[in-house]
Amino acid sequence: METKLLSDCASDLLEAAALLKQGCVVGIPTETVYGLAADARNPEAVRQIFSAKGRPADNPLIVHIAKMESLETVAAVIPPLAEKLAEQFWPGSLTMILPKRNDIPEITSGRLDTVGIRMPSHPVAQALILLSDVPIAAPSANISGYPSPTTAQHVMRDMQGKIAAVVDGGACSVGVESTVIAFEGNGADTVRILRPGFVTKEMLEEVVPHVTLDPAIFHQLQEGQTVHSPGMKYQHYSPRAHVVLVEGAWNAFAALVKREKGSGIYALVFDGEEASLSMPCLTYGSCGQEQAQQIFSKLRELDDMGAQKVFVRAPRPEGIGLAVYNRLIRAAGFEVIQV
Ligand code: TXA
Ligand code: MG
Repeated sequence: METKLLSDCASDLLEAAALLKQGCVVGIPTETVYGLAADARNPEAVRQIFSAKGRPADNPLIVHIAKMESLETVAAVIPPLAEKLAEQFWPGSLTMILPKRNDIPEITSGRLDTVGIRMPSHPVAQALILLSDVPIAAPSANISGYPSPTTAQHVMRDMQGKIAAVVDGGACSVGVESTVIAFEGNGADTVRILRPGFVTKEMLEEVVPHVTLDPAIFHQLQEGQTVHSPGMKYQHYSPRAHVVLVEGAWNAFAALVKREKGSGIYALVFDGEEASLSMPCLTYGSCGQEQAQQIFSKLRELDDMGAQKVFVRAPRPEGIGLAVYNRLIRAAGFEVIQV
């Protein structure tokens, strides 16, 4: 199959929407990362998403909608708190896990009786959902385990020949995937963050009385621990290069990489720090927002440059920086050095 690269002009959007309606898989831009989209209610279309990504069958997909009225066509129960959160944060990078309706097939929800739902804010994603008039299941459009794509070129790299088309909507503005939350108890006043993202704990606390962070955000799950989100079990976001996350002061980081310097050894540091390191090196911004925007493309670029091992300066795990930190400890397979 030849994968067509489409633009965001009106005729190309109509073509992409027609493909989605026909049950084809299309790479689409969202404000977080590019998604691998198909009709969430069409099991054969959704099967092609799993096969193009090489994704384990028990890892459920997020369903994307474009109108508030569509929420009740996907979720069987909508707690008042979910409505409040949707009012505050949709369209945007918040995914809510809710009980699913029976017409969402088992393959879409990884056989769970819940489903993750999100209303993206990217105008191209919105247009494609409205034009195709179907709820869109879309995981990140990377090969399973590899860093998520934030440009159409990243998607072409991973999916060329495996899917019908990719729509180019430019580089993603957020750069890391949505915040995923689940409601606890009767859904009245507590939510648990399963995956941190642009919508932070502090932002959620303005609407929700109790917000907790799942331990799997910081630590590798131990044998027997409860898995609240199947995605937490799997290796994620890893480039081919061996990533080591280094936490601590700049001077100690610089001393460590100086000792480790050698063929194929790279550093990934904050803007402005590269000048004082005499080794191959890339930077990924200086504040949390810039780091989120750049992290996945820099991990991919390190592979293109032939890096074997990369020492990464850990971001501050605060605000959106927590999302970046969470992706990096997973990219590093939880190999963290404190200096
Ligand atoms: O920003 C995003 O969320 C992007 C864009 C394309 O919308 N999508 C995305 O999808 O990141 P994916 O499949 O790469 O990550 C979804 C995560 C997985 O870790 C999955 O296990 C979890 O959400 N998830 C989905 N449905 C769930 C459910 N019913 N219960 C628990 N976790 C769920
Ligand atoms: Mg993903």
